[in-house]
Amino acid sequence: MNKEQYIESAEKTFYKTYNRFPVVFERGEGIHLYDTDGNEYLDFGAGIAVMGLGYNHPAYTKAMVEQAGKLMHTSNLFYNVPSITAAEKLLKVSGMDKVFFTNSGTEAIEGALKIARRYAYDKKQGAYEIIAMEHSFHGRSTGALAVTGNDHYREPFNPLLPGVKFAKFNDLDSVKALVNDKTCAIIMETVQGEGGIYPADPEFIAGVRKLCDEHDLIMILDEIQCGMARSGSMFAWQHYGVKPDVMTVAKALGNGFPVGAFLACGKASTAMVPGDHGTTYGGNPFAGAAADAVLDIFEKEDILGKVNEIAPYLEETLDRITAKYDCVKEHRGMGLIRGLEFHCPAGPVIRDALLNQKLVLIGAGANIIRFVPPLVISARTWTRWRSAWRRPSRRRPSSFISRGYRL
Ligand SMILES: Cc1ncc(COP(=O)(O)O)c(C=O)c1O
Repeated sequence: MNKEQYIESAEKTFYKTYNRFPVVFERGEGIHLYDTDGNEYLDFGAGIAVMGLGYNHPAYTKAMVEQAGKLMHTSNLFYNVPSITAAEKLLKVSGMDKVFFTNSGTEAIEGALKIARRYAYDKKQGAYEIIAMEHSFHGRSTGALAVTGNDHYREPFNPLLPGVKFAKFNDLDSVKALVNDKTCAIIMETVQGEGGIYPADPEFIAGVRKLCDEHDLIMILDEIQCGMARSGSMFAWQHYGVKPDVMTVAKALGNGFPVGAFLACGKASTAMVPGDHGTTYGGNPFAGAAADAVLDIFEKEDILGKVNEIAPYLEETLDRITAKYDCVKEHRGMGLIRGLEFHCPAGPVIRDALLNQKLVLIGAGANIIRFVPPLVISARTWTRWRSAWRRPSRRRPSSFISRGYRL
C-alpha cells in the first residue's frame, strides 16, 4: 500500500477522535523520523514529550529485545525483576517512598486521586473535594478528565467525578478561597503543558504546599509531561524546594513503551492497602524493562546534564525569534519544555513546517507551538536550525518557517 491508501484505510477503520496530519511514519533514528515515502523529518515533538532518548536508542532497543525474548508478562500476583530494579531507580531519583506502575499517564492520575480519597476516608471524615487548576490537563479517563481544567473536554461527559473545584493557576488566593473541611487534595501540573507551557511560580507552589500541610491535604504534582529531566531537573518540582505527597510520571519513563507511575511519600505512602487498587498489565516485566532501561541510560549518559547544556540554545533561539517577529507574542518554559506564543493561530505554521519543511512541531492551545524535543538533541542541531531563521516576513507566521528553515 502507498501512503494515500494507508490513510484511506485508517480513516475507514479507526474510531474517529483525531484529525491527523497526512503523514505515515515508519521508523525513527535519533531525533529524526522517516515516513513511508522515505522523507526525513527533524522532530521537535518527541511523540508529545515521550521520546526523551530519541528513536532507536541502541541500549534501550537492546534491553527491550532481550526482555521480549525472556518474559513479557506474569501479572501482579507475582514479583518480577525488571519492575523491582526500575522501582528502586525511580525512588532514588525522585526521593519518594513508594511507587505503583501504571500503563499510561491518565491511569497514574486515577491512582493519585484514589490515594487522596482513601487518605481522607480514613483520616478526614470522608472529605472528598479536590481542587484542580484552570487550563490544566491530566488525561482522558473520567477521573483524570474531571480534574482537567478545560470545559471543552469535560462538558460532553458530565457529570464526572463529584467534588472537583477549579482554582486559577499561580493565584494562591483563588486556591485558598476553595479550601474547606471537605477538601482532600490539590492537584496541579508543575509546568502546565497542554494548557500552553506555564511553569508554576515559586511562591505559588510553596503556598500550595503550606496550605496542604495546614489542612492535612494531599498535594499531587503531575509530572507526566514536564518530568524525567525535561525541565532541567529530574522532576520539575525539584527546582522549587517543595515535595509533593503524590506525584505522577509517564511519557518519557517508557521512551515509547507505555509506562506510567504514581509515587507517594510520607502520609500518602500507606493510604491504600491491599485490595484498594490493581492493574493487570501495570509493571509487567516488559514495561519494567522499559522503565529500567530508560532510568539506567539517563544515569549513564547524564541526560539531565545534557538538557541543561542544550536548553540555553533553545531559549536563546526563542528569544531571537520573539524579538524579531511581530507575529510572535512571547515564549516561556523551562529546560526543554517551552512554548512560543503567537498573536494568531499557530496551526498553519505547524502544518507548513511538517508538510513543507519536514519539521515536526506540536501545538499547545490554539496560538502556541510547544517545543518538547528528544532530550538527546545536540547543540549542533540547534545551531543549524537557529541559523535557518532568516529572511522572513515580519508578519506572516508561516512564511518565516517555509522561507527560513533549512537544514
Ligand atoms: C500533564 C499530563 N498529565 C496527564 C496526561 C495523560 O497522559 P496519557 O495520555 O498517557 O494518559 C498528559 C498527556 O498529555 C499530560 O500532559
